[in-house]
Amino acid sequence: MKGLVLSGGKGTRLRPLTYTGAKQLVPVANKPILFYALEDLVEAGVSDIGIIISPETGEQVQQETGDGARFGARLTYILQPQPLGIAHGIKIAQDFVGAEPFILFLGDNFIRGGIVPQVNAFRNEAMDAQIILYEMQDPSSMGVAVLNGDGRVQRVVEKPKQFISPYAVIGIYMFGPSVFDAVNNIKPSARGELEITDTIQYLVDKGLNVRAHKLADAWVDTGRIGDMLEANRLVLDIMESKNQGTVQDSIIEGRVILEEGARVVSSKIRGPAIIGKRTVVQNAFVGPYTSIHYDCVVSHCEIEHSIVLEQSCLENLHTRIADSLIGRNVQIKHAEGPTKTIRLMLGDFSQVGI
Ligand code: DAU
Repeated sequence: MKGLVLSGGKGTRLRPLTYTGAKQLVPVANKPILFYALEDLVEAGVSDIGIIISPETGEQVQQETGDGARFGARLTYILQPQPLGIAHGIKIAQDFVGAEPFILFLGDNFIRGGIVPQVNAFRNEAMDAQIILYEMQDPSSMGVAVLNGDGRVQRVVEKPKQFISPYAVIGIYMFGPSVFDAVNNIKPSARGELEITDTIQYLVDKGLNVRAHKLADAWVDTGRIGDMLEANRLVLDIMESKNQGTVQDSIIEGRVILEEGARVVSSKIRGPAIIGKRTVVQNAFVGPYTSIHYDCVVSHCEIEHSIVLEQSCLENLHTRIADSLIGRNVQIKHAEGPTKTIRLMLGDFSQVGI
């Protein structure tokens, strides 16, 4: 069985971060979200993996993931010249996939608990496709599946305007070779994309065996800032404490990971939290569900429930930062003003005076 990970697309909902970087490389607990997909595939016994990349961010993705040896995988990069849809990604991967069954994993999807049970079910029972469903109150921003009385997939609709079912179709799919017949026959949708939902509907309409697996564990489509923070919470919640840094005159509460060379001086860190390589936390408070990446400085300020990307500097702030996603090389320093909580989403190289 092969794997196909989609790491192209535009990432418009995470702008401005995605002006300069691939959305699949935004870190969750200091690790690119894409790495979790690769690890899930390898854990399920799938190590021959194709990665769909875009001309804009493909090089960055290749730099980060390399030949795949660090994941125990062999990676093949497939360039998608334009983001013409998820099903278009399948279409251009036909040579790579060949006649084998495969798992399609959208590189911005995060699933806690991995995919081993779903892959085993797909391997053991003869199916043409398997989709995974996640029950939500409002799945209208996703593909949505309607099941019939015996739990079979009847209809799959992309981002339906009206409520048709509580089952979002998550971005992890398993297909046999019949999917190529589908992607070569469906037509682009109104937004000009070859839709994955139309692909699945095509298989259903042909009377093929399309099964649905309902997911009990957590899943996040990390398209927006709130989703990134949720994925960050889910990962930090299950990480063990580790100290590869140094702590001086500080209080460390709960589960905290200090990566190599991290320095905590005269500060308080309340976990779950992770402090990246060579990052310095000085006279500061780092609260629960915070990930601070490598080579950052957090000095004389308070931050909680946030993600900070590499080489950023937060200094002398009188306001606690919360619920924020802060890009690379960002500098936030004190400026005159009243003390309030603020919510930030800052792009790479931003500079803010507060
Ligand atoms: O996350 C689950 C949802 O993913 C499904 O419920 C929807 O049915 C499915 O269409 C998809 O919806 P999104 O609106 O989230 O798709 P997005 O455009 O964000 O693309 C998902 C991933 O695939 C993302 O990592 C970028 C990549 N991609 C996307 C397109 C359209 C490509 O690599 N190439 C593309 O042409």
